[in-house]
Amino acid sequence: MKRQVIQTADGSKTLFIPEMNEQYHSVNGALTESEYVFLKQGYFHHPSPSPVVFEVGFGTGLNALVTALKAEEQKRSTTFISIEKYPISSNEIKSLDYGKTISGKAVDLFQQLHAASWGKEVTISEFFTLYKIETDLTTFSLKNLEPFDVIYFDAFAPDKQPKLWQAEIFDRIFEASRTGAVFVTYSAKGSIRRQLINSGFSMERLPGPPGKRQMLRGVRLT
Ligand SMILES: C[S@@+](CC[C@H](N)C(=O)[O-])C[C@H]1O[C@@H](n2cnc3c(N)ncnc32)[C@H](O)[C@@H]1O
Repeated sequence: MKRQVIQTADGSKTLFIPEMNEQYHSVNGALTESEYVFLKQGYFHHPSPSPVVFEVGFGTGLNALVTALKAEEQKRSTTFISIEKYPISSNEIKSLDYGKTISGKAVDLFQQLHAASWGKEVTISEFFTLYKIETDLTTFSLKNLEPFDVIYFDAFAPDKQPKLWQAEIFDRIFEASRTGAVFVTYSAKGSIRRQLINSGFSMERLPGPPGKRQMLRGVRLT
């Protein structure tokens, strides 16, 4: 799949797939979206001092990077499990260069996140452990993973990749979560909200990041 590096409205970059006419983040601001949807409405919404985060789509590593920075800042021992079917190339990592966009401290961290081996837990810093799994969410069993406290559901849009936004996937994620788990996604689609409710999450609509009216957040109450 061919990908291009493009600039988004807040100055941070993202990847664009011409064949799908789809990008990895909002063109209205990749970093802004990542910090708002996943950190603010997801990671910060869970009270655990040692959360397990599960991400669908490691992609550029931007969500992992902003979470790792916060984990250090807040001294919150975070385990970050992320699955990815199509890891990006070293040239793409170099061109995205998120570290430079964020802070001096983030430069090395961004490299470390990408250099970490796939398929095993890697200690990135005192408060951040990364477990990247190269696999396909539609066939991978979540049963042997540590139960999730926070879920970053960051697949390509439902109309571009409907297979990933199915009831069966949400059921499996619900079952792999702890009581109190927080599920966040940038999508605000009614059909997705209803499927997540059927899977057991208690859902709310929240104001979206720039350029999007709303997003979804769910909590596992039982
Ligand atoms: C919207 S992008 C977001 C990526 C990432 N969270 C980021 O911050 O860059 C969606 C990601 O899901 C990955 N993906 C697509 N299909 C997948 C599948 N079946 N299983 C696992 N990951 C998949 C894509 O390769 C891509 O990296």
